[in-house]
Amino acid sequence: MIQRHPGFEPKPTHQHQPLHFPDGFWWGTATSAHQVEGWNDNSDWWHWEHKPGTIADGQLSGRAADHYHLYRQDIRLMARLHQNAYRFSVEWSRIEQEPGKFNRVQLEHYFNVLQELRRYNIHSALTLHHFTVPVWFEKMGGFRKRENAELFLRYAEQVITYLHPYVNLWITINEPNIYVLMSYLLGIWPPGMKSKAAAWQVFQNLAWVHRRLYEMIHERQPHAMVGCAQNIISFAPSDKHSFVQWASARGVDWLWNHWFFEKTRAYHDFIGVNYYVHKRIKGLSPYEWNRYANGHHESREHSDLDWEVYPPGFSEALADMASYRLPIYVTENGISSQNDHRRARYIVSYLKELYHAIQSGVDVRGYFHWSLLDNFEWDKGFKARFGLVEVDFKTLQRKIRGSGELYAAIARQNAIPHELLQFVGHGVSPKTVLQTTKQWAGKPAAK
Ligand code: FCB
Repeated sequence: MIQRHPGFEPKPTHQHQPLHFPDGFWWGTATSAHQVEGWNDNSDWWHWEHKPGTIADGQLSGRAADHYHLYRQDIRLMARLHQNAYRFSVEWSRIEQEPGKFNRVQLEHYFNVLQELRRYNIHSALTLHHFTVPVWFEKMGGFRKRENAELFLRYAEQVITYLHPYVNLWITINEPNIYVLMSYLLGIWPPGMKSKAAAWQVFQNLAWVHRRLYEMIHERQPHAMVGCAQNIISFAPSDKHSFVQWASARGVDWLWNHWFFEKTRAYHDFIGVNYYVHKRIKGLSPYEWNRYANGHHESREHSDLDWEVYPPGFSEALADMASYRLPIYVTENGISSQNDHRRARYIVSYLKELYHAIQSGVDVRGYFHWSLLDNFEWDKGFKARFGLVEVDFKTLQRKIRGSGELYAAIARQNAIPHELLQFVGHGVSPKTVLQTTKQWAGKPAAK
């Protein structure tokens, strides 16, 4: 038993104060074009969805959330949720429907989106590539060929030239690691290849594209903030006494989390972190990187997509990324759940970890929750519900969820009010979540 030193009185470390975030912190949400815009019929994904067996329940993205037409209404919703940032992607297959022919009207669409964000003082984070490519590009061999990668740069140059004065944060490529894994190693996403050679070429070419984009943007906008959004996983040995598991976790951490950054070192003004997943590593093989340790997994909470809910992994991942000594933006984080009460708990628990990371010296400048709206979750279709705002896909009606109100209250106060910390535990009913968040939504910002 611990013997307390005579006369020693521990100071309470649990202060009943709001957990404040740095001044000017960005509170945002993230989406991607194909998942929300609708009728993205010139893209490789649209064609892929029509192949049998590619998407859960045979669903098609169709008109999705029709964000393409309803973006004004959606930006109004962001303002209503006290957001000061929005991350979205521009759709290459709309802008360049045929090779070399750039569609002015489509470029103007994104110009209008950016103008609308400005009207509400919402910072913009623009993604140039978020998984989709035009069909013609895929037919030519996609990113497997270096000469094709040049074509992507030709498109990007149009976007950069036209839109650069209005963009606050540039995200060149979304999750190069996920793209290579799903599309070229597992073959679950278009073009459905399972080839290590193709995966290697695409990885190399994406790193090259990133470096070139970094230069292109800086030529036009010397003070631009350019980075990519990488999928970061917190890996841990399943058994902390196993050297093999430790070495395996260490190795896959380098491959998954650091390799792309190492290949593009000096070409980032910030580190973009998409964080969702914690993995407990069992052994050395890729199969064992990709599965949970039985028992651990079953006894823990996980999302509707079977991703373990493990908040400390988030601050650990952020601390790891701090090694690049650059500002960090959390470019995505969220949970797929049909149960909004769980989303509310998730938000408070993960933001509390974000707070602790910042307190311990990690320079995080902003957080984008995935996602503003329910949307088309790639091969999982519409069942996966990630939205702070519920979408009725029949009527396209939007309805702010309790978790949306909660997130709005935090954004508005630039702090997690102490009362909300009760949501970290389990004993709060969905009704209380709604009542408390409504009450907080109306309160003046905490000092
Ligand atoms: C990320 C993707 C994003 C969305 C979320 C849930 O890997 O970048 O488009 O699918 O996962």
